[in-house]
Amino acid sequence: MKAAIYVQYGKPEVLQVKEAIKPTPISNEILVRIKATAVNSGDVRLRKADPFAIRFIFGLIKPKINILGSVYSGEVESVGQEVKMFKVGDTVFGHTDMNFGAYAEYICVPQDGSVAIKPANVSHGEAAVIPFGGVAALHFIKKAVIKPGQKVIVAGASGAVGSAAVQLAKSFGATVTGVCSTANIDLVKSIGADHVIDYTKDDFTKNGETYDVIFDTVNSTSFFRNVKSLTENGIMILSAAGMSEMLQGLWISKTSSKKVLTGVISHKAADIIFLKELIETGKFKPVIDKAYSLEQIAEAHVYVEKGHKKGNVIINI
Ligand SMILES: NC(=O)c1ccc[n+]([C@@H]2O[C@H](COP(=O)([O-])OP(=O)(O)OC[C@H]3O[C@@H](n4cnc5c(N)ncnc54)[C@H](OP(=O)(O)O)[C@@H]3O)[C@@H](O)[C@H]2O)c1
Repeated sequence: MKAAIYVQYGKPEVLQVKEAIKPTPISNEILVRIKATAVNSGDVRLRKADPFAIRFIFGLIKPKINILGSVYSGEVESVGQEVKMFKVGDTVFGHTDMNFGAYAEYICVPQDGSVAIKPANVSHGEAAVIPFGGVAALHFIKKAVIKPGQKVIVAGASGAVGSAAVQLAKSFGATVTGVCSTANIDLVKSIGADHVIDYTKDDFTKNGETYDVIFDTVNSTSFFRNVKSLTENGIMILSAAGMSEMLQGLWISKTSSKKVLTGVISHKAADIIFLKELIETGKFKPVIDKAYSLEQIAEAHVYVEKGHKKGNVIINI
């Protein structure tokens, strides 16, 4: 099979499309013929080993995993002997968790992993992006227990996590403000934001407003300015938190009525099934910026690394 392989950390050119061994499913695995994957911020970090700490998990000198890509949508081509949940020909989408391997024509995944039948009303490309930004946003929004009528602000509302967070907070009944750049105002309004703040002109931490939930997907402003803009029992979600924000968050959660949610999310089939149902009822729409082929994977990484993508970048395979 063809796959984008990298054997050293570095610039986008380290990704080379080559022949690789097609995997064979063991007892509880399904073999998926991948139709689409995506380039996410996480793939870029792993490619560059940035932050350095990534090397302690994924290989100190060179990467232990040689095929990146954590999301996929495709068709089940064969199944292991014990597989009961899927059959050959099913169209599925999912997340590989920490195993990666989706920048390839085929992948084997456990039937009880983060995999489900693909929503019928979206393309493979649109389905592939859901288990990254959609699941990350859902994980934190469920933890924050957003209630109807609450005021929620999403910073980075034009990104993969942010565009999902705006739509999910709306579906839970919140009044949502999206924070984005001038070029993305129409996009953020189109996905349902009630109000939009252009961060190139205004700073939401200085407008005198307080919010029940601040979902900052891009560490857009200083930690303590964010905290000041929370209501008395407000919750701050930092999906891009580094070690210092995590420690500051623990301190605020322990010493005040405010709460800070950080950490690495886990991937469960239940979450993608929840999102699939929202998509099928028209309450959630994956936002797609650009599509590339597997051969253009390095080009796609260059684009994503700039940090300005609108929603998601697809790789059609
Ligand atoms: N905790 C977890 O397990 C987990 C899971 C998934 C993702 N994440 C993290 O979540 C973060 C967001 O990921 P993503 O994939 O959504 O990123 P992304 O798609 O690259 O989104 C960045 C978006 O934010 C906008 N932006 C940049 N600076 C901004 C600012 N100051 N204020 C408002 N918007 C701004 C960018 O557009 P403009 O530059 O045009 O404004 C772009 O549309 C990443 O750090 C990722 O690693 C964490």
